[in-house]
Amino acid sequence: MSDSFIPLSGHDLSMASVHAFQAQHQFPPAQALGEFERLVASKTGVAHAVAVSSGTAAIHLALKLAGVRPGDWVLAPTFTYVATINPIRYLGAEPILIDAEEETWNLDPGLLREAILDALKQGKRPAACLVVNTYGTPSHWGEVKALCREHGIPVIEDAAESLGAAVDRQPSGSLGDIGITSFNNNKVITCFGGGAVLLKDQQQTERVLYWATQARSALPYYEHREVGYNYRMSPLQALWGLTELPELDERVRKRRAVFQRYREELGDLITKTQHEDVGAYSNRWLSSFIFRGERALALQQHLLEQRIESRPLWNPMHHQPAFSDVKAYRNGVSDRLFRSGICLPSGHELLGSDQKKVVDSVRHFFRQVANA
Ligand SMILES: Cc1ncc(COP(=O)(O)O)c(C=O)c1O
Repeated sequence: MSDSFIPLSGHDLSMASVHAFQAQHQFPPAQALGEFERLVASKTGVAHAVAVSSGTAAIHLALKLAGVRPGDWVLAPTFTYVATINPIRYLGAEPILIDAEEETWNLDPGLLREAILDALKQGKRPAACLVVNTYGTPSHWGEVKALCREHGIPVIEDAAESLGAAVDRQPSGSLGDIGITSFNNNKVITCFGGGAVLLKDQQQTERVLYWATQARSALPYYEHREVGYNYRMSPLQALWGLTELPELDERVRKRRAVFQRYREELGDLITKTQHEDVGAYSNRWLSSFIFRGERALALQQHLLEQRIESRPLWNPMHHQPAFSDVKAYRNGVSDRLFRSGICLPSGHELLGSDQKKVVDSVRHFFRQVANA
């Protein structure tokens, strides 16, 4: 067992990995972006990918592509990371927050239906629906997609956390009308920052590329007919991504094994975890559990004292002061998840001996609680 800090999910940028990177890369930086985009598209089962500076930027562009305009309403989960919601506001639109269901911890289809019908009654068709596969576990895609189809609402898959997951063997990233993913430092595959918009249509791809490069017209001089963004990924990040992406399946296999070991060794203390629907395959980006009692923050502190990083589950967006005025369809599930759940170290580099230390520390915490 090492005495070093056990991280939640990060990647170690050691000199060894820098040298491995230098030895491996075959593409001059100028070609790296195109190669990286081809590989991202093939891994996510879409026709085209546009590599950008972050997953957040990718969501911004995907919403714009879906036609979201100031004053529009956009459906989105409340149990998510804030980056799913912020870009709705960048466009001057309004999030409509939907609570989670108990099984996958993703959008509750019953509440989604209620929100859509309420909006239609007020003469407002939601401009888009963002669907997240929280912590890498797929949503109830069949029901969510059928509802959105029925009401003509474009679906944007926020696959920031779920690269390598799938539903009926269809890769995450290709499950909605438009997809996005993230390559930030805590994800399964990293470029040390970055993201991609995942697209099925050539014309849409050209639009996204145009907006991501300051909306510069294809002319020999500078002309900009629209306001654009400096969102393009750097070629060096793409070069790094090219060395990482071939390892996707193996890393997912390792994360799933980490999750399974926690489940087996802490099963008597765990009251709930995320369920995979029939046909769904989670990448188990973060091993997330509800333990007995509502002691997530105390457990987090206890683990930190042992130099183990953990995180409470998402604090729902309807609790965030920045979104206090937003309409939320609630059922209490995300509130309970936040109070009682925790993400344990889940990285593909987690040593077996370090995972044992995590398991022992969790057990020690609950023994102390029982004896108090
Ligand atoms: C669900 C979700 N959406 C979007 C993002 C944004 O990705 P990025 O950090 O690359 O901007 C993240 C991760 O950070 C995320 O977890």
